[in-house]
Amino acid sequence: MVDIAELKRQAAEKAVEFIESGMVVGLGTGSTAVHATRAVGRLLQQGKLQNIVAIPTSDETAREAESLQIPLVTFDTHPIIDITIDGADEADPDLDVIKGLGGALLREKIVAVVSQRFVIVADHTKRVAQLGSKAPVPVEVIPFAERPVTDYLKSLGARVEKRMEDDGQRPFRTDENNIILDCYLKPIANPQQLAAAIRQQPGVVEHGLFLGLATDVIFATPDGVEHLTRP
Ligand code: A5P
Repeated sequence: MVDIAELKRQAAEKAVEFIESGMVVGLGTGSTAVHATRAVGRLLQQGKLQNIVAIPTSDETAREAESLQIPLVTFDTHPIIDITIDGADEADPDLDVIKGLGGALLREKIVAVVSQRFVIVADHTKRVAQLGSKAPVPVEVIPFAERPVTDYLKSLGARVEKRMEDDGQRPFRTDENNIILDCYLKPIANPQQLAAAIRQQPGVVEHGLFLGLATDVIFATPDGVEHLTRP
């Protein structure tokens, strides 16, 4: 039987091979990216990587990195990141992805756009022909704007679900204390057009369409690891 957790680890550890001593590293969020963070911690501990500093994409990842004694920095001193390794919820053949089912899409995108290399790591179940085939597009919204933004997203054709905490009792809140509206639009005919439309509405902070940002996608499959790069 295919062990998805093992595939996630394989994809993440393949990407860690691209990290060199002295680099500024963006640390992603989620059950795949955490394997990259742990591998960086291990390699630092072993002395196989040296002088690495990192910027985490969430409070959760910051806690993980701190527990592994990975030195963390901020954009104030390190405005450009050499390489970021992060997971995805879907990735298409153009290396465009949907992110944010873990709720960290805002900081993830801020980190991605200042990364010289942005490597997506995923198991093969995240591969889609067209974005939106399986995953919703998460939209991070200021709580005050919930109703108008919900109505607007519906007018774009989305079925909108406000994300709740796992207990189902309280709305999910992001690290920036915003809410997330998950938009089901499957599949998305024109992701660029949709992304531009979503951004137009006041109260939208960010959305989970990461278009033209990934330089590499690493898929771990039961038949081996595949590495896609942007031409
Ligand atoms: C976090 O907000 C997300 O963007 C994750 O990177 C994405 O949801 C992938 O998570 P998993 O690796 O846990 O599937």
